[in-house]
Amino acid sequence: MKNLVKESKDIWNKNATFWDDNMGDNSNEFHRIVIRPKVTELLSPKASDYILDIACGNGNYSAYLADSGISVVAFDYSEKLIELAKKRQEKYLDKIEFCVADATSKESLLNLKRKNKFTKAVCNMAIMDITDIEPLIQTVYELLDDGGIFVFATQHPCFVTLTNKYMTPHQYYGVAIEGQPEKQHYYHRSLQDIFNLCFKTGFVVDGFYEECFKDEKEIPMVIIVRLKKM
Ligand SMILES: C[S@@+](CC[C@H](N)C(=O)[O-])C[C@H]1O[C@@H](n2cnc3c(N)ncnc32)[C@H](O)[C@@H]1O
Repeated sequence: MKNLVKESKDIWNKNATFWDDNMGDNSNEFHRIVIRPKVTELLSPKASDYILDIACGNGNYSAYLADSGISVVAFDYSEKLIELAKKRQEKYLDKIEFCVADATSKESLLNLKRKNKFTKAVCNMAIMDITDIEPLIQTVYELLDDGGIFVFATQHPCFVTLTNKYMTPHQYYGVAIEGQPEKQHYYHRSLQDIFNLCFKTGFVVDGFYEECFKDEKEIPMVIIVRLKKM
């Protein structure tokens, strides 16, 4: 699937302004109700933390962290989204360093190495958008301090997929926000593929939630996973 990175990124660049307009300063209800509370509980951010925000979009979660005095390095591969994030989060630029970097490239990720290692990393609703997550999981492990925490929220692969395949990783097209200019790429991976990659790298899972959104049938749309560097 590696050759899909450029096409995925071009779509995110085309959808960037629409995404930023829709997320605004406060993100949408889905992010506010389903993602942020449990991600924040598992991340348990402290003022002394130094946090990597992976695939940061328009930087709303970075701004939320910066508002509590936390220093953040936030990156996205969409140059347009980073440009918009810098504008939107202007008042936090003393706390947030926004960078363009590609999560599928180890070389690009290693450019995010700073004098101090990160105490924590977070990735809100992007694992299912990233073409290849192996370089990301392995490099985040390297960029984190010993005992460091990596929290990610992503689509629940058992319940949210538009195809009838579960076991084999594959790409499909979908829509994140109704009305967006272009359909985007999604990347399905089974739970065992996601978790085994984390275990093989040296992470353990020490926190986990499945979250529903206004669903009478109680079908969880999202998993929220806390990894610890051992
Ligand atoms: C659904 S948005 C989530 C944005 C933000 N984390 C939030 O919660 O508002 C997914 C983001 O993943 C980014 N993304 C996808 N693949 C990426 C990659 N290979 N490297 C960096 N960012 C990527 C997209 O550009 C987009 O900003």
